[in-house]
Amino acid sequence: MEIRDLCIQILGGQTLEDKLFSPLVLTDENPGPALLWDTPSRPIGMEFKKHSKEEKLPPFHEHGSLDKRAVCLHRFAGHELLAVEIMAYALLAFPDSPKHFRKGLLNTLKEEQEHVRLYTARLLEMGVKLGDLPLYKHFWSYTPFLNSPLQYLSVMSLTFEMANLDFAPLYGKSFQRHGDPSSAALMNRILQDEMHHVSFGMHWLNKLKDPQESSWDSWRKNVPERLTVKRAKGFCLFEEHRRKAGVPEDWITAMKKS
Ligand SMILES: [Fe+2]
Ligand SMILES: [Fe+2]
Repeated sequence: MEIRDLCIQILGGQTLEDKLFSPLVLTDENPGPALLWDTPSRPIGMEFKKHSKEEKLPPFHEHGSLDKRAVCLHRFAGHELLAVEIMAYALLAFPDSPKHFRKGLLNTLKEEQEHVRLYTARLLEMGVKLGDLPLYKHFWSYTPFLNSPLQYLSVMSLTFEMANLDFAPLYGKSFQRHGDPSSAALMNRILQDEMHHVSFGMHWLNKLKDPQESSWDSWRKNVPERLTVKRAKGFCLFEEHRRKAGVPEDWITAMKKS
């Protein structure tokens, strides 16, 4: 199967199986013309809902409740599904990008598919199905700002996935503290993968940016204004996870000050 056809299936598919389909062998012989997908199809019951303030994530002190933990995990599962779709969007939008970039992006997409599967399985153990709670458009509303691989990397890998280097361990620790080691182990697995995803972002930002420009300046230039530095971190900053992901020291220092 061609990467292009897989991405069209992910964005136009009617079932979750369509979106999580992950053939072992994929070719990239016919990336085709650039295709800017408007809105992904969603299986019945998984459509985007409008976000309202009341739907904030349950705070840490409420994580003793299984239902409240399930609300958190359901939201994270929704983010993973969005990540799958955004990565398919980028593969269709940038057919002329370097082959190695496309291959790395495809691998990341496959890991996001696995994240959806892992969260969905854990949620089922807790009695919740994907779609039982609201799912939001979130990352998908940023497609107007994804006009180049550099913008994609800056928004997705180096802002949203970077923030997960803090959120995944923060929630994981809280779940552990509240007696849910299964959910805590899941958050740790996600963290390990997300460090690779941020590392992919750093690697390709450095390759594709103007060599005269620092990686930090290139990142800031390639995100919309509303994505402030704060959007790339949690309530606290895990420096070590960023170092493992290859984030340079001056970047970490600048993040701490923001
Ligand atoms: Fe993920
Ligand atoms: Fe990721």
